Amino acid sequence: MAERLIFPDLDSLAQAAAEIVVTSAQAAIAARERFSIGLSGGSTPRPLYALLASPAYAPRIDWPNVHVFWGDERCVPPDHPDSNYRMARETLLDHVPLLPDNIHRMPGERDPEAGAGAYDAHLRLFFAADGEDVPRFDLLLLGMGGDAHTASLFPGTAALGETDRWVAANYVEKLGAWRLTLTPPALNAAAEIVVLVSGADKADALDAVLNGPTDPGRYPAQLLQPENGRLRWLVDRAATRQSG
Ligand code: 6PG
Repeated sequence: MAERLIFPDLDSLAQAAAEIVVTSAQAAIAARERFSIGLSGGSTPRPLYALLASPAYAPRIDWPNVHVFWGDERCVPPDHPDSNYRMARETLLDHVPLLPDNIHRMPGERDPEAGAGAYDAHLRLFFAADGEDVPRFDLLLLGMGGDAHTASLFPGTAALGETDRWVAANYVEKLGAWRLTLTPPALNAAAEIVVLVSGADKADALDAVLNGPTDPGRYPAQLLQPENGRLRWLVDRAATRQSG
């Protein structure tokens, strides 16, 4: 059963998310000397990433044991203004002592199919070292669009139906753009998923996803059903206007 936590605003939501990241990192590193986190793109996570880089939070995470991945990426170079990697680098990665080899960037600059294949293979190697045959991220941070997409699983797109690959190249008609995205089986292999949703423009989609008819083709965030993991929705008051 998904847990829903409601906060007055994005700042308090970001603080709660930062505490979850710290707790998850400390537990994973204590257990296996490694913490694998998948970052979300978009704008909602910016205050969270800034908090994690701040003196209040950064010292609480053993950064050299952290491995950073992405849930999705735009098919652009890493220095492009739209790059999810660039946003994370500017707000977090450049400000904490991660090991460069532990930053596992999605190759948005490559041909989409080749980039997806390369990242898929990279994930299989990384998690095989743990004896895992699924990409069991310790924590996956995701967002949700006003059309109920998550990662780059947009309504009506091909990647929604992917059942074998962990990473797909997904053409998004409405954007006229390619994306790289974790697929539903990869997302749902995570030990923990936290979805961050903020703003009145998300209220209709959030209500449909949480309370509407089951229709993941139309509301892709409904696909988030971790096989053996915890799912938490961290939402602010403005995004719950309709769903309460
Ligand atoms: C992306 C994200 C995407 C994002 C939602 C919400 O690449 O854009 O991964 O899934 O989480 O679009 O975006 P905002 O946080 O900007 O509203």
